[in-house]
Amino acid sequence: MEPATSSSDRAAEAVEAAVRERIAPDTATLARVASTAARLVENARRAAEGRRIAPQKIVVAGSAARGTFLRDRLDIDLFFLYPPTVGRADLEKEGLSLAGAILERPETRYAEHPYLRGTFEGFAVDAVPGYAITDPSQPLSAVDRTPFHQAFLVERQNPSMVADVRLLKQFLRAHRLYGSEARTGGFSGYLVELLVLKFGSFHQVLSDAAHWRIPARLLWSADSAPRVPDDVALVMEDPVDPHRNVATALSRRNLAAFILSSQAFLERPTPEAFETQTSPGLTLVAGLDRVRDRATHVAALTLPRPALVDDVLYPQLRKAERAVAEEAERQGFAVLGVAGAAGPSRVLVLLEVGSRLLPAVRRRPGPPAGIDRVGSFLEKWAAPGAEVVQGPYIDDEGNLAVETRRGERSIEGLLRESLPRLPLGRDLKGGVPERAWIGPLDELTEGPEVDAALGELLDKRLPWWRPTPR
Ligand code: UTP
Ligand code: MN
Repeated sequence: MEPATSSSDRAAEAVEAAVRERIAPDTATLARVASTAARLVENARRAAEGRRIAPQKIVVAGSAARGTFLRDRLDIDLFFLYPPTVGRADLEKEGLSLAGAILERPETRYAEHPYLRGTFEGFAVDAVPGYAITDPSQPLSAVDRTPFHQAFLVERQNPSMVADVRLLKQFLRAHRLYGSEARTGGFSGYLVELLVLKFGSFHQVLSDAAHWRIPARLLWSADSAPRVPDDVALVMEDPVDPHRNVATALSRRNLAAFILSSQAFLERPTPEAFETQTSPGLTLVAGLDRVRDRATHVAALTLPRPALVDDVLYPQLRKAERAVAEEAERQGFAVLGVAGAAGPSRVLVLLEVGSRLLPAVRRRPGPPAGIDRVGSFLEKWAAPGAEVVQGPYIDDEGNLAVETRRGERSIEGLLRESLPRLPLGRDLKGGVPERAWIGPLDELTEGPEVDAALGELLDKRLPWWRPTPR
């Protein structure tokens, strides 16, 4: 090994050790979590006695059960596992009502199915109903594999791996890559634990990731080779169910960011790599300034926010962004970027194009010389009232063409026209176009979603990238 590499490895080890120390929960906290978890299970067991339908198993799993949590992001995951004979509706009703009986300030949340978030002895608790199954490759609900994950991990983890799971979570969080919610599209807690287990340490995960190419494939045995669907960035086989990919939520963008940030850290290990990169967004004033400097044009589309949680809303917002950008491109605009954000009352899409107006003329390509359709093409454009500005003529390829006058030339006007047929997300389509607003950036009113979307549109850069001052 080259001396340069080993000295930067030593530097990395020093940084890693310091951060590991800083983020480790103290022994008192670990003990308090363990005793609270035990009382939580005990309380739930007592509350379940005498109920019409009782869970077969009550378990605490997830990071709180393994000590792999980040201190300031600690939640206890409590699972009520019912016999498979219990119907889905009963499972949800009974599970939520049991959870409500033991948690304070309970609040229903929705993932694949509803669960309850509340507190117990001051800790945040997610109480999730599921099924007690015997074969993890045959789950009845999305959370049924959890006890198998728990068993798989605790059997194999040692204290240094546990510390490195926290370190990798912190690294990912700092780069905004942690969390498998749709809004983030990042690494789930379980995926992080499997990565550390597979490669042995935080450092080894990064060393390996630095060489990944997308799509990347991580398997537990050589003979299993699940095919990679096109849209999947990373395949990480679930060791308790080899047909399931643990990394389905991870986007290509975020995996690429992890690969590059791994390389950047190994090359230049700094403690800042573990500190959350604040992306303050861009104020409307600053955004308008940039647009002027870039000599581009930004159009905005706002829709009233449907009553949906971010997890459901964001995939639809991303879809709307794509639809808007593709439509603009189809119309002939030079699209530089698109971004979006959801605020408390509205959903915003921003589109940056080369100029606000298309030319007043539009070229309409016709058939090549010599084919039958030439006749009808010429007839159509020779008809009285045909708005021909120039032509018909023959282009350099030997095809006929005419140029006509364009009715609507502005990006805002063209988007307004095409809005009813754009494939926006399912819940965004309602009320379009009556409740949509489309206008240039300088007519947009301020709001937190404006700053967020502007930051995403006009302040893009690698978070660890610091150009050397000239
Ligand atoms: P969490 O998302 O809380 O992850 O899911 P975590 O491992 O506890 O990590 P942090 O520290 O809170 O971020 C808890 C457990 O639920 C199971 C996984 O086994 C996970 O470890 N789970 C979660 C599923 O099986 N499916 C899901 O869709 C979500
Ligand atoms: Mn958790």
